[in-house]
Amino acid sequence: MSTWRDQVPTSGSIELPPDPRALEGLGRNHSLETAVADLVDNSIDAGASRVLIRLVRVEGRLRALYVVDNGHGIPESKIDAAMTVGGQRAYNSKDLGKFGLGLKAASFSQARSLAVVSKAFGSPAVGRRWLLNENRKSFHCDIIPTDFATDEFERKWGIEEIDTGTVIRWDDVTGFPATDDFARVEEFISHTASALRNHLGLVFHRILDAGRISIEIDVEDIEGDVSGPRIPVGALNPFGYTRSGRAGYPKGLSAQVGDIDLKFKCHIWTGRSTLQQFKLPDGAEARQGLYFYRRDRLLQAGGG
Ligand SMILES: Nc1ncnc2c1ncn2[C@@H]1O[C@H](COP(=O)(O)OP(=O)(O)OP(=O)(O)O)[C@@H](O)[C@H]1O
Ligand SMILES: [Mg+2]
Repeated sequence: MSTWRDQVPTSGSIELPPDPRALEGLGRNHSLETAVADLVDNSIDAGASRVLIRLVRVEGRLRALYVVDNGHGIPESKIDAAMTVGGQRAYNSKDLGKFGLGLKAASFSQARSLAVVSKAFGSPAVGRRWLLNENRKSFHCDIIPTDFATDEFERKWGIEEIDTGTVIRWDDVTGFPATDDFARVEEFISHTASALRNHLGLVFHRILDAGRISIEIDVEDIEGDVSGPRIPVGALNPFGYTRSGRAGYPKGLSAQVGDIDLKFKCHIWTGRSTLQQFKLPDGAEARQGLYFYRRDRLLQAGGG
């Protein structure tokens, strides 16, 4: 038996770029609402004060989902890096972004087509599109012509003074019902809107409560003039109860991990609250556990 070596020896290297079809496998653990939340992260990083999530219905059938914001937009010089899988940028200490992956992973987990149209200060709208395709042989990304990018940016989003901002468009959304049956589509819309309100309201509750951003959801019927009402996403603060479940709580605890001081704030919920944040799906029981925030964005909501 040979002796153990602490370094694995190698005899050369070969270039193994990822197969372009690997794009399809990104973001497998997402649901629609967690994927949209990752797009909202980007809107927050872009300094947006408004975000609109819009479902588009054509002849009774859902066809596209948009996430639109009035942030600082992406200039032409940065749009290719933004579309690149793992295309990192210089991050500042407040940014939610970190890996250069979120937009692509979130989008490909839900849709076969991701179009990004953006307008930065003083420049025309620019656009790129990734299309998932089983026969994809390269990482070529499509360029959206300026006139279409401009039209798309200037659609009626109901966001006043939107001089700069970003429009993310998903087509061929895999979870959309493949039908124009009115009742089924309506049921899907109402289910999706409440899943979005619950999830976004929860994970962004500090940012919403601080008034840093407003998030709304609506549905646009392409051939009708009437669009549904805009549904606001309200903050759902899991610690925003009026009465603690036990006297003496919330209580501070601290722990030492290596040379890091960890501080915890322990809450005991009352079982009887009627507040919306305590009526989330799965019930309060599934929601107990550890809550982690990063830069005021809730990353882990109990359950662990
Ligand atoms: N709504 C937006 N407004 C302005 N720029 C955006 C927007 N969405 C994406 N971008 C640009 O695209 C880049 C890539 O976004 P992506 O979510 O893929 O990665 P990230 O936010 O940098 O990191 P992470 O993987 O942690 O999300 C961002 O860094 C940002 O420069
Ligand atoms: Mg991101």
